[in-house]
Amino acid sequence: MADLNDPTTQWWRNSVVYQVYVRSFADSDGDGIGDLPGITSRLPHLAELGVDALWITPFYTSPQHDHGYDVADYRDVDPLFGTLSDADDLVARAHELGLRVVVDIVPNHTSSEHEWFQAALAAGKGSPERARYLFRDAPDGELPNNWGSVFGGPAWTQVDDGQWYLHLFDSTQPDLDWRNPEVPAMFEDVLRFWLDRGVDGFRIDVAHGLFKVESLRDQEVGEDERPSSGQVNTDHSMVSLDLKDEPMWDQPEVHDVYRSWHRLLDEAGPDKMAVAEAWTQTPESMAAFVRPDELDQAFNFAWLLADWSAEAFARVITSTLAAVEPVGASPTWVLSNHDVVRHTTRYGGGAVGLARARAATLTMLALPGSSYLYQGEELGLEQVDVAPEHRQDPSWLRTGEVGRDGCRVPIPWSGTQAPYGFGPGEAQPWIPQPDDWAALTVEAQAADPGSTLAFYRDALRIRREFAWTAGDKVDVLDSDDDVLVLRRGPLTVVLNCGTTPVELPEGELLLASGPVEGTLPANTAAWLRA
Ligand code: NOJ
Ligand code: MG
Repeated sequence: MADLNDPTTQWWRNSVVYQVYVRSFADSDGDGIGDLPGITSRLPHLAELGVDALWITPFYTSPQHDHGYDVADYRDVDPLFGTLSDADDLVARAHELGLRVVVDIVPNHTSSEHEWFQAALAAGKGSPERARYLFRDAPDGELPNNWGSVFGGPAWTQVDDGQWYLHLFDSTQPDLDWRNPEVPAMFEDVLRFWLDRGVDGFRIDVAHGLFKVESLRDQEVGEDERPSSGQVNTDHSMVSLDLKDEPMWDQPEVHDVYRSWHRLLDEAGPDKMAVAEAWTQTPESMAAFVRPDELDQAFNFAWLLADWSAEAFARVITSTLAAVEPVGASPTWVLSNHDVVRHTTRYGGGAVGLARARAATLTMLALPGSSYLYQGEELGLEQVDVAPEHRQDPSWLRTGEVGRDGCRVPIPWSGTQAPYGFGPGEAQPWIPQPDDWAALTVEAQAADPGSTLAFYRDALRIRREFAWTAGDKVDVLDSDDDVLVLRRGPLTVVLNCGTTPVELPEGELLLASGPVEGTLPANTAAWLRA
């Protein structure tokens, strides 16, 4: 593990970062909604799990139309989640436990309740207040352009005086105009504010979004395509990797922002980092965000999008390493987050889905660079089929299509019935938990050496022995449709995506994702030391 006390360590280069979805991690006050003191009280779970850092989703003042990704005040904590002093306590306690803290920054849009947007509405057409956002006129019966919101429907909403404003997400999330110098100035202050409070890094929301083509011209849309952004498709699990015309995403000007943020982070210290959420279309465009004078890492969604196929995993590994190598950045890997269907369910659900999820996780954790875990995957949780009356995702409200609520169900900690220790007493969480989660609680799994939690703890403990020394080079030794064999330093990894057992190569078996008797069963991965 990187030494937490060594300020010169680029600790993120080989770390395991655990994503905390604040509403759903732990509730301290019994209102059924997770909060900062809840996270603080559960930090020992993360230390015991063996992760290096946690990334906390937005907890700032927000009307919660997109659960905090609609920020009304970037420098305060929403009362739902606690206070600034609770945030300070969380950071201090995490550091005591050897855990770094990454917070989420949402620079593409504000909440419509942000004072800037309220002032823009009040000030009217042509005002400097409106010039912080993207207000436009359109002829009667028309929209300013054909762009769609990621959450469905048009990306434009009309205000009382007839003007329209752009929102690539919900209508309560107006996009900022990053060509207005007030906007970058505000965010530099926000970054400094949180650095001064001791955070170790930032996850940049919609990092590829800030700049749009200046003309706001129409998007060219193929015959069978929807005129939308393509970030999340209708089942909210995938993006299309076909190259599209995207005048709203990934514009060259955005890189100047990250160059200036790089300088700002550098001034705060060599151990401060930033990771981009950038749904770019190619590995090369992802790598542009992590050039030496820009951000440190970018989520590698290609790994999460790969099918259950040895060949597909091999392709992503090879192309990812090839893309980041020239810019000297560390690669990242992720299988689940709060926006996609949990990987147990993507891989088929039930026993097979869980076996595959564990195998993919073990493969990921062997790779150079950082792995990002999503809360609950260490318990093997599946996507939950949330009843319509409990769904809150704005995309569900805009389109009537099942949204992302199913991966956001609160964590089961203990006990045999809901709320499974999520909060004090009987208070039920904001999304109901399934009736059959008693065997999945942290408490139950901690007592079972065969549990998914025990498997994650073992994997992270063993990973620490090689993560910083096994090197950045990966040799893919075999990758037909069924079996992936790769070597990294002294470590050999075998992943069986097929249907029949395969021979294991020579070596000491360090860990397997499921039972191994001589041969490696289907849907299983193993680590061996040569
Ligand atoms: C990406 C976040 O991960 C997602 O949850 C959010 O809805 C959008 N950005 C908009 O901020
Ligand atoms: Mg609470």
